[in-house]
Amino acid sequence: MDTNSLEKIANDLVAPGKGILAADESNGTMSKRLEAVGIDPSEENRRKYRVNLFSSENYEKAISGVILYDETIRQKMDDGTDIPQAMINRGIYPGIKVDTGTIDFEGHEGEKVTEGLDGLKERCQEYFEMGARFTKWRAVISIDGEKPSDSCVSENAQLLAKYARICQECGLVPIIEPEVLMDGLHSAERCLEVTSRVLAKTFSECEINDVYLPGVLLKPNMIISGNMNDEQITRKQVAEMTVRCLSENVPTEVPGIVFLSGGQSDEDATAHLNIMNKMNKKHPWELSYSYGRALQASALKEWAKGSPESSQLEFLKRAEMNHKARYGEWDIKLEN
Ligand code: 13P
Repeated sequence: MDTNSLEKIANDLVAPGKGILAADESNGTMSKRLEAVGIDPSEENRRKYRVNLFSSENYEKAISGVILYDETIRQKMDDGTDIPQAMINRGIYPGIKVDTGTIDFEGHEGEKVTEGLDGLKERCQEYFEMGARFTKWRAVISIDGEKPSDSCVSENAQLLAKYARICQECGLVPIIEPEVLMDGLHSAERCLEVTSRVLAKTFSECEINDVYLPGVLLKPNMIISGNMNDEQITRKQVAEMTVRCLSENVPTEVPGIVFLSGGQSDEDATAHLNIMNKMNKKHPWELSYSYGRALQASALKEWAKGSPESSQLEFLKRAEMNHKARYGEWDIKLEN
């Protein structure tokens, strides 16, 4: 395993002011997003929308890496350049989602496990040849009554650790994403409890599987209340609970934490990150972003209106706001 190279990639991905664009929606998810804004969900439309994003001027200022889906990593820019090569030309690392989605967890109603270990090594070798230098695997954990079960947490943690080890053997930095969903009636306190359990188990499996922690990134949810719970919780409380959860469960060798946005509003995702980076204490890891919706939602709406330029401007605005939040320098006034 080339640990020096893994460390360099991981650290570059969370370099000051920078974060990741998650543009790795599966064909199914991307098609749903296009249909929701009235666009025919064809392969060419998925390409056009994404190529427009990837052509935005100077987005490398805020974006160190882009996570792609298998379809996209094989597509070309409008000028015929391979998409991953176009990114490399701008100093951006291409990344790739390597899990193949979730299935029902046998014997555990309402719980999911993620698949994708079959043939993973061979796929990683191919993606490396195509220019990819990092990967993503997303585990999905739901909170509902007594759920998640210990076996669901444990199974997903084992899979994440095995995935991470295989990617590292192939020279790719794994993003470990155990997402505790915001769907439900649960409180933020319950989200904290479950996320802590999930992270603790994930890192204990990483240890068992000899995952090289300075060469991984963690992509967790923030600690927020369920979307059907109406408790009043401030942005400051979200930031503080999130940092508490990470401090208690994430080893300091991990170079960076790149949050998912998970359905938060664009502004909440930026504001929460900003408060965490503004705290008086120095965190042992970089706190950054790997947002999908919170970087793209407004851009997609503009693109659907037939306005590629305003789509790029919307994307660049969210990128700039999150770039500022990396330094704790975002302010609500900058939004208008
Ligand atoms: P969201 O920021 O929209 O949650 O997407 C991030 C992601 O990659 C989920 O796997």
